[in-house]
Parts: sequence; C-alpha cells; structure tokens
Amino acid sequence: MEIKKPFLQTLHGEMTESIPFWFMRQAGRYLPEYGELRSQAGGFLNMVYNPKNAAEITVQPLRRFGMSAAILFSDILVIPQALGQKLEFMAGEGPKLDALKEENDLSKLNSDTIDEVLNPIYETVSLTRQKLNDEGFDQTALIGFAGSPWTVATYMVEGGGSKTYEKTKAWAYGHPTSFQKLIDILVESTTHYLCRQVEAGAESLQLFDSWSGVLDEENFDRWVIKPTSQIVAGVKEKHPDIPIIGFPRGAGTMVFNYAEETNIQAIGLDFTMPQKWATDNLQHLMPVQGNLDPVSLLAGGPQMEEKAQKILKTFGNQPFVFNLGHGIIKETPIAHVEKLCDMIRGYKR
Ligand code: CP3
Repeated sequence: MEIKKPFLQTLHGEMTESIPFWFMRQAGRYLPEYGELRSQAGGFLNMVYNPKNAAEITVQPLRRFGMSAAILFSDILVIPQALGQKLEFMAGEGPKLDALKEENDLSKLNSDTIDEVLNPIYETVSLTRQKLNDEGFDQTALIGFAGSPWTVATYMVEGGGSKTYEKTKAWAYGHPTSFQKLIDILVESTTHYLCRQVEAGAESLQLFDSWSGVLDEENFDRWVIKPTSQIVAGVKEKHPDIPIIGFPRGAGTMVFNYAEETNIQAIGLDFTMPQKWATDNLQHLMPVQGNLDPVSLLAGGPQMEEKAQKILKTFGNQPFVFNLGHGIIKETPIAHVEKLCDMIRGYKR
C-alpha cells in the first residue's frame, strides 16, 4: 500500500487534515549540528558534493521539527560550476564566480559533461530517500530543486551577488540574442539536472527564481516566464506526474501571469505578497506555498504567532503548504522554529 504524503496530496489539490509545512533553507546554519559537520567537512561545497554528508544535513532538521518535506541539500550554483565556471564560497561572504562578460565567454561553458560534476548530487538524492525511510520518515516527501535560468544567470554574469543587476540587465536588454544563448544553455542543463533528480528519487521539484523581481514586464515574460515554461515542459515530457513548485520571488502581481503560463503545479509566495490578493487571484488556480517573513520567525513572540495564525486562517481553506517567504535566517533561535512548527501542526482547518 502506498503511504499518503500530505505535502504531495496538497500539491495535487487535495485537502489534508493538517497543513503540511517545510521551510526554505531549513537545513543550514541556524542548526548547531550543521555547523559541526561543516567545520569537519571543511566548507560548504565539500558538503554538497559528499553524498553522505549532504544526505545527513538534509535529514537534520526533520529529526528536530518533523517537517512534511525534506529539501535536497545542494545549491542553485552547482549548475554554473558543472558547466565549467569557477565557483567559490568563502566563509561569511557570498558566492564568487569567474564572471561571464560577453558572448565569447559562453564558449567556456560545456553542457555535455555536467553529470561528471553532478553525479554525487544524484547520489545524495537516492541516499536521502533511503535514509528517510530508514529513520521512519515515511510520510516525508523529498524535494529536489534548481535555480531558474534568470536567477542563475545573474550570478554567472555579475560574478556573485548584486544589488542592482546592472551587468546582467544591460546584457539582456542590450544584446538579447546573445543573452538568449546563455538562457538556452541554462534551460537545457537545468531540465536535464531536474530529470536526473526525479530519476534518483525526488518526489517534487522547486524552481527558485530569487531575482525575478528586478525585471520589467516585457523582460519578466522573456527571461522568467518563457524559460520556466520550457523547463516545466521538458521535465513533464519525461515525468508527467512530478509536481513542480515555482517561486518567482519579488514578482508582485506578475506572479499571476507566471502561475497561469508556466504550467507549474503550485506557486511559492514571498512575504510581500498581499494575502487577500493571493487567495482571490492565485489560490483558485493552484495550491500556494508561503509566506511568513523569515524576520518574523527570527524575532519570535506574539507578533510571529499572530502572523502565522493569520496565514493559516487565510490560506488554510484551500490547498496550502506553510512556508516562509524566503530562507530561514542564520541567527534564528531553535525555540522559535519549534514554536512555529507546533502551531502549524496543531492548527485545525
Ligand atoms: O533550503 C535548503 O535547506 C536546501 C539547500 C539550499 C541552499 N541554497 C543551501 C545553502 C537551497 C535550496 C539553496 C538555494 C539558493 N542558493 C538560492 C535560492 C534561494 C534564495 O535564498 O534566494 C540562492 C540565491 C543561492 C545562492 C547562494 N548560496 C548564496 C547567495 C549563498 C550565500 C549567502 C547565504 O545565504 O549564505 C549560498 C550559500 C548557501 N546555500 C548556504 C546554504 C546552507 C550557506 C553556506 C554556509 O556558509 O554554510
């Protein structure tokens, strides 16, 4: 008999007894056990490419909080690295990449051999699925993920994080034909990468488009909606039943077009999304996921409880996955996370 998993039931539009939940960046630096393993492993990427460590980190938060889903421990920037771009994570700083400056630089990327780099990640997926079963988390779904082409491209072109995305936007606006070549490479490699995660045991996928909110409407359509639709179509061709969650962060009301046009199964909402607008405009189209401000969880106390209750009440009448509106913050006290999980678990629809 197949065990029903509330997270997956919700993504398929069913109403479960309690509301499923997980948190973006649930495996990470707010957990002391993560810090311990990180210092033993000697850095973030050493953990990502070591299936045993990565599977262990994926399961760590579940042992404490029992979320409804585990998310593969990896990063969106493994795709540029697998394509041949130099990537480093320095402690306390963001990622650093050897920036692509112009069309000629695209010849440095090679999508034929990405699996040579990514194989350990597929192994992490199967090892994690095994570990979840071994540890009795048989109702916990495993989420695989990738960055969306636009967001990944910003890191590749800026050479790291940015406040303004001027280099990437200038390339995309000024030389769209050559920028399209970069996006096409990312669509192809990301589609392949996600299919391989499904084949290794991922039961759902999330596409992170963290910087989709910096584009105007026309460019949002071209660099966010179109490539996302292509990836969804490519993955569904091989794996028609895999539920894909889209998370176009900061996109405002353009989230509506994204939800309608990309063929995703569920939509992630950031914390700036007005809740009534989202229930009226999105939740009848598909299940939604979100949207507590991670700073509210960091601060804790009555304001967090009120905000969480309001989210549960507002979205809980239709299929809904509780999550944060962006990743959990490193300084977040464990006790606040415990309190929030208890509230979600105890909520009666
Ligand atoms: O959510 C999870 O628990 C799964 C693992 C995961 C990580 N990164 C691990 C990570 C996921 C899903 C991501 C996605 C990711 N990575 C995004 C999209 C979501 C978002 O946050 O907007 C982006 C933009 C990245 C790129 C990235 N990775 C940055 C900018 C940084 C440095 C800043 C930061 O938050 O530390 C990372 C590093 C990173 N990725 C860490 C973790 C646990 C911290 C590494 C460490 O220092 O231990």
